[in-house]
Amino acid sequence: MPDETSTPPPPPVTVGVLREAGSERRVALVPEVVETLVARGLEVRVEAGAGADAWFADDAYAAAGAQVTTRAAAAASDVVVSVHRPGPDVLDVLAPGQTLLGLLGARADRDGLVELERRGVRALSLELLPRTLSRAQTMDALSSQASVAGYRAALLGAETFARYLPTMITAAGTARPAKVLVLGAGVAGLQAIGTARRLGAQVTGYDVRPAAREEVTSLGATFLTTSVTAGAGDGGYARALTAEETAAQQAELGAKIAGFDIVITTAQVPGARPPLLVTEDTLDQMAAGSVLVDLAASELGGNVAGSAPGRSVVTAGGVTIVGAGDLPSRMATGASTAYARNIAAVLGVVVVDGAIALDPADEVVGALWVGADLAPPPASVTVPSVPTVEGEGA
Ligand code: NAI
Repeated sequence: MPDETSTPPPPPVTVGVLREAGSERRVALVPEVVETLVARGLEVRVEAGAGADAWFADDAYAAAGAQVTTRAAAAASDVVVSVHRPGPDVLDVLAPGQTLLGLLGARADRDGLVELERRGVRALSLELLPRTLSRAQTMDALSSQASVAGYRAALLGAETFARYLPTMITAAGTARPAKVLVLGAGVAGLQAIGTARRLGAQVTGYDVRPAAREEVTSLGATFLTTSVTAGAGDGGYARALTAEETAAQQAELGAKIAGFDIVITTAQVPGARPPLLVTEDTLDQMAAGSVLVDLAASELGGNVAGSAPGRSVVTAGGVTIVGAGDLPSRMATGASTAYARNIAAVLGVVVVDGAIALDPADEVVGALWVGADLAPPPASVTVPSVPTVEGEGA
């Protein structure tokens, strides 16, 4: 006999995945990760075609246990996960009680997220993760994506450079190894150094943080020293240099850069414009055929004078500058897989006992949650499930 006093189990927490906007090829969840989330009791709704550009077909999501559905139905999930901050078509329809999780750009535009919070939508911005916290490492999307970018940057540099990277001894003579310089030795830079070394190049690394020296040399590369150093600030990040320090750095680097065949630049300062490390004067001194790969290239400018996001520019002196701020998107399958694992790890702390429970006192949640310090004092906030929308393919 059924027990008439027992309450039915709460509906499962729903997680929605949307197709990213513009030219972004990545997707926030991949089938392999969907399977683990479904096994944890979550209901995953994937917009039809969301993974197509990363080579994940709708059938693969369905086989992993997801509902392949409309954009509107996916956007009405308890947690909407994304790579970038979605556009107004999604933000405007998010309802109180829903949570948005992704690289939402809280450092670049916090106001837009605060506005969502004021409407009762919870915004968890992955850039705000306390990365040095050991339990946060599986959630570290900046690192997973930077790692992809660094690896691809070395390959792109090698592909664009019109000579061998390793020493090549052939019947037609011996080719000397290419000299590669990596400016900025964070996660992407170290990955670029390792990859260029494996390709046989002679590699030098540089960073403004003195602690980077040991990491660079432990990869078998040489560390380039300048008189400008800046100890790591908050969260291990570099601080922005003063105008005088920047000028000194540009002058010292300029004198050395001209001797390199391939220069990969990865320098970033959170929330600030990327520092300009390679000036026009320096470019003029470089040999024709040299290649620069600028991972910091964006609409705001990059580490290299004249770099343009998403395309290559050849200077009058024959130096190629590859604007490469979008390398994770260009390696969409691998980058999405790593990103999806990061998202699943965050969901592990956000969904507790079958319900969304954002605890602002938790070190990870408190840091990611844009509204943590806007919310009333640190009581745990339990968000009820968003009702199922009409017309979804469930
Ligand atoms: P990032 O993407 O913010 O910047 C890349 C690199 O550019 C950094 O190494 C930074 O020092 C360097 N840079 C900034 N301005 C520069 C300038 N003017 N000249 C030369 N180099 C400049 O950094 P990323 O890769 O996100 O890493 C930031 C820090 O966080 C690093 O110290 C990294 O080791 C640390 N980290 C620690 C983790 C952990 O403990 N689990 C995980 C991830 C990162």
